[in-house]
Amino acid sequence: MCCMADDLHRHVTLRDGLVVDVRPIEETDEAELRAGLSILSPQSRYLRFHSERSSLTAEEWRYLTVVDQQRHIAVVAVVDGRIAGVARAIVVDDGAAEVAFVVADEVQRRGVGTLLRDVLVDAAAARGIRTLRANVLAQNAPMRRLLAPLERIGERDGVIEVRVPRDTREWQGLPFT
Ligand SMILES: CC(C)(COP(=O)(O)OP(=O)(O)OC[C@H]1O[C@@H](n2cnc3c(N)ncnc32)[C@H](O)[C@@H]1OP(=O)(O)O)[C@@H](O)C(=O)NCCC(=O)NCCS
Repeated sequence: MCCMADDLHRHVTLRDGLVVDVRPIEETDEAELRAGLSILSPQSRYLRFHSERSSLTAEEWRYLTVVDQQRHIAVVAVVDGRIAGVARAIVVDDGAAEVAFVVADEVQRRGVGTLLRDVLVDAAAARGIRTLRANVLAQNAPMRRLLAPLERIGERDGVIEVRVPRDTREWQGLPFT
């Protein structure tokens, strides 16, 4: 096992002054995540889950919150003491990882998604994951922009595949202080 979850912590001030803490997801986050999902806009929910679902089963919550941080990496972004975003990368059979992101509507477009992406890319690189895949709807401009700085391998049936840089310092142009 290459890494503890220590590399999944960040304390960052974004350009507009928003202070964000990133940390590994915890089982005890479920209640807050559940509440967050219920107030997510229909648009964001659809872009994330590709469906109108506003609740998940107990089994699904457990799958999403009890993770090993090796083959299933998951982090939350905390703003003002509340969870404002979640990102995960789940290794699939061929060693690539499927990624998914969601940021609370009220803090979108301020850099939280970019911060979560960078944490995931760093974590993936440290764990020897070389490829990330994201199932992205055609109209999802923010998610496409989030992936744009990474080297594109291809896109098929809405699944965008990008390469994880070996040295993640080479590509990050972070909007953070
Ligand atoms: C995709 C998502 C996670 C991005 O989070 P975010 O915190 O808004 O992202 P950022 O503020 O870091 O912006 C990332 C990029 O998207 C762009 N962007 C953000 N919102 C945008 C919008 N509404 N329209 C166009 N571009 C947008 C930003 O300008 C930035 O691009 P740049 O780096 O080229 O300037 C967020 O929009 C979200 O939760 N969407 C709903 C769920 C979803 O689509 N999940 C992805 C499925 S895998």
